[in-house]
Amino acid sequence: MRCVRILPAGLRGETTGRRKPWVIVNMLPLRRAWNHNTRYHDAILRRLPVNCNRVLDIGSGDGSFAARLATRCWGVVAVDVEPSQVASAEQACEQYSNVTVRCGDFLSIDFEGERFDALTALASLHHMPIESAVTKMKSLLQPGGCLIVLGVWTDDDSIRDRAINILAVAFNRLCRLLYGPDAMT
Ligand SMILES: C[S@@+](CC[C@H](N)C(=O)[O-])C[C@H]1O[C@@H](n2cnc3c(N)ncnc32)[C@H](O)[C@@H]1O
Repeated sequence: MRCVRILPAGLRGETTGRRKPWVIVNMLPLRRAWNHNTRYHDAILRRLPVNCNRVLDIGSGDGSFAARLATRCWGVVAVDVEPSQVASAEQACEQYSNVTVRCGDFLSIDFEGERFDALTALASLHHMPIESAVTKMKSLLQPGGCLIVLGVWTDDDSIRDRAINILAVAFNRLCRLLYGPDAMT
């Protein structure tokens, strides 16, 4: 099986010198780079409505998830406030004619009455004022539509949460060593 992975630009073509662990893993049948958000992509795709025509990915970052949505939904809109991330998303999605990438603050973009079957916000909701963001999300959903949020920050975490976080950081490091860094890590 051919292995297709996304590496940060600085790592591409780095073939001289000591072999990096992720270059070795690159030879294995892994499909893409790993981070603690991409880890959930398959699970999120499985939770989309069966007839998911239109989906909005909020805070789409480098567009890696929007590209996967493109293979599952008729139309994808990916929105991010950071121009550099929008440029990466445009590149990641350039082969998909059903993806529109928009640059701007989700809270101020005018969607001109458009409604979506699903909204996804992967590691992005906690960057916005939650009440206004969720109110706007609700207004953009079709009746019966689906909102999928990955990762919500909390300031009042328990000791148990912290213990889990410490284990998660260690596991994260291990996975990055095995699978290699991607553009977000
Ligand atoms: C941690 S990154 C996650 C990116 C991507 N969803 C992923 O899973 O890799 C959070 C993203 O949200 C974007 N973002 C933050 N606030 C935003 C806003 N108000 N409107 C649109 N995008 C926003 C950031 O620019 C960033 O790309």
